[in-house]
Amino acid sequence: DGWTAAEIFSREFSYTYDDIIMHPGYIDFPADAVDLNSRLTKNIILRTPCVSSPMDTVTEAPMAAAMAAVGGIGFIHYNNTPQEQANLVKKAKSQRVGFVSDPVCLSPSATVSDVDGLKNRKGFSSVLITEDGTIGSKLVGIVTSRDIDFLSDRMTEVREVMSVDLITAPAGISLEEASGILIKSKKSLLPLVGESGEVVELLCRTDLKRRLAYPKSGVPSVGKDGRFLVGAAVGTRESDKQRLGLLVEAGVNVVIFDSAQGNSSYQKEMISYAKKIYPDIDVIGGNVASSHQAINLIEAGADALRVGMGSGSICTTQEVCAVGRGQATAVFQVSRLANSLAVPVIADGGISNSGHIVKALTLGASTVMMGSFLAGTDEAPGDFFYQDGRRLKNYRGMGSLEAQAKGSDTRYLGDKSQMRIAQGVSGTVADKGSVLRLIPFTMHAVKQGFQDLGLRSVAAARSALSSGNITMEVRTGAAQKEGGVHGLVSYEKRHF
Ligand code: XMP
Repeated sequence: DGWTAAEIFSREFSYTYDDIIMHPGYIDFPADAVDLNSRLTKNIILRTPCVSSPMDTVTEAPMAAAMAAVGGIGFIHYNNTPQEQANLVKKAKSQRVGFVSDPVCLSPSATVSDVDGLKNRKGFSSVLITEDGTIGSKLVGIVTSRDIDFLSDRMTEVREVMSVDLITAPAGISLEEASGILIKSKKSLLPLVGESGEVVELLCRTDLKRRLAYPKSGVPSVGKDGRFLVGAAVGTRESDKQRLGLLVEAGVNVVIFDSAQGNSSYQKEMISYAKKIYPDIDVIGGNVASSHQAINLIEAGADALRVGMGSGSICTTQEVCAVGRGQATAVFQVSRLANSLAVPVIADGGISNSGHIVKALTLGASTVMMGSFLAGTDEAPGDFFYQDGRRLKNYRGMGSLEAQAKGSDTRYLGDKSQMRIAQGVSGTVADKGSVLRLIPFTMHAVKQGFQDLGLRSVAAARSALSSGNITMEVRTGAAQKEGGVHGLVSYEKRHF
């Protein structure tokens, strides 16, 4: 009953995740027992097989730190100067699990309306007040919603309303110690301060509650240096060698060579160069969608491949350039070759629910890379705003004209052409809360999918795939409709 992946994907069609449906297996273990450990590259194992995309509306330091905190990894984008990108890597690597290492501060002369603005844009309801309004200067007060809730004159300076009976802790104490002090203090924030009272880090009651209340968030991804694993993307131009050098100096653990079509002499040269000059740094090649592209990058020394051409939610590459492949087909075909050569595959783009992650991992990918799925989280760059009553963030393709104008055209031009052609769009995504909550819940749903398939681990999925023990079918349009919510007048979509 059913068809193996090899049978389905040997047809002349290009399929994507929604086209196929997996057949259930036999359950003799709980979902919690499913082990999602998986390889990001030849040398890096992640507890959570999720990766944030190197896009300027997805991954900067807060996202990279949060992804590492939940056992995945983030790749810092390169739509910035080499020094700015290196600084973001350093910042992500210097964060400590559970703490906010760059809290927003205001000066005593800021107004209550500035606090309102922060609340709307960032969602904070308490703010630290320091002597000159920067982190690193002396803490003088805290404003919480209780201080300002009923104040009618929002132009009042915060010095007049801030609480000054502060409870602080010395910088550098452990998360456990700090949590104990915060709980006992009954305050909403515990600032960690240096010897002269300067702000160093912050522990928030909401983060602590989240950590204690939600399912285990997994073991953080930490490198040999004892710090978060952090990745970064670079282009494949000669000048990117200098950027690569700065990233390595900043402590980056793994780099992605970022091209929309990675099967090029530029990328092969860059991979060989990086492997020769920085043998301790793993390098990821791509993007590719077929095995003939993949083999070139594997031979050049890629430690993993990024698979997906035109599958991203904001991509227009397939329409503009007529190249690409349905993502399920691309993942299966490239993984079949890459896995036989012990090179892990990252399924990049097109992930919009936990079922897509289950499908990517059971079709041969070792990890999934996500853009839109993460762009509406607290940790993504940019501020929230309201539109038609919904709380949104901006999300844009790196090939959109807006992003290219800021520098990402290296991914799409690759030559001396000065003409920019959009290969992506710019749009908005809905608020999804914190990555620290979203990823653990999503991973629990993925574990339930593995349980339904009778698969105890990503490794078990791999051997079941190659021995033809996972069966599936292609769904007709009507079957896909039936598989989604249908027949209701209205409903509210809540994921957890
Ligand atoms: P999702 O579906 O997760 O996809 O939002 C993210 C992936 O899309 C790719 N990407 C682009 N592809 N034009 C494209 O054709 C673009 O402007 C663009 N920007 C990002 C990229 O691989 C990313 O990880």
